[in-house]
Order: sequence, then C-alpha cells, then structure tokens
Amino acid sequence: MYSNKVIEHFMTPRNVGTMAEADGKGTFGDPGCGDSLTIYIKVKDEVIEDISFLVFGCTASVATSSMTTVLAKGKTIEEALEIQEEDIVEALDGLPENKLHCSNLGVQALRSAIKDYLNKKEK
Ligand code: FES
Repeated sequence: MYSNKVIEHFMTPRNVGTMAEADGKGTFGDPGCGDSLTIYIKVKDEVIEDISFLVFGCTASVATSSMTTVLAKGKTIEEALEIQEEDIVEALDGLPENKLHCSNLGVQALRSAIKDYLNKKEK
C-alpha cells in the first residue's frame, strides 16, 4: 500500500523538531482528519537554509512533511512557493488515493511559514 520511500520517511523522518529563533513559522491543520503540521524556516539571502517540522498525524502525513522539508531546503523563497502537492507525492513514489490529501499539509504549512517570514521582514 505504501511505497518504500513513504515507509523510509515515516521510519526516519528528516528535519524533525522545533527551531529556536525561526525566521518563519507556519501551521496548517486538516479539519477533516484532524492532522496538523507546523513548519519552521531559517532564511538567509532569500534561501531556505534550514527547515524543520512537528506533525501530529498519520503515517502519510509524517512522510509528506519530511519530504516537504527535503524539497524546500536550499530553495529560494520563490522556488519553495512553487512546490505543489504533486511534487511531494511524486518524490515519495506515490501515495494511496485516500492519503493524497496528506501532501496538502506540507504545501500549506510551508506557504504559511514563508508568509510569516515575509510579514516579519516587512516590519
Ligand atoms: Fe489527513 Fe493524513 S489522514 S493528513
């Protein structure tokens, strides 16, 4: 049912944890299933130089959160904003149909963290 990559990212998720003095923090929860993800980013010269996450959720939400951070790390803010659910699903070699929505947590939490960063920068 799950690809080897999903299982690998679930068993050993990358970039787990909170971040002291994050430049941006974003949380997104799915009201349908109750899963929730928070992403922290550290930005230097408009590049996401560090990223971490905390998730409360299902197997797929752990794997998609982990993959979201892997995809976003090292990208510019502009590039990170272009990450779509399909990119995360593809990078994980697919997800079961009923778990496709889990990839939305990563996309939305990442965008929210970037928005938080941009808001703080303006002040
Ligand atoms: Fe909803 Fe995984 S079941 S995010």
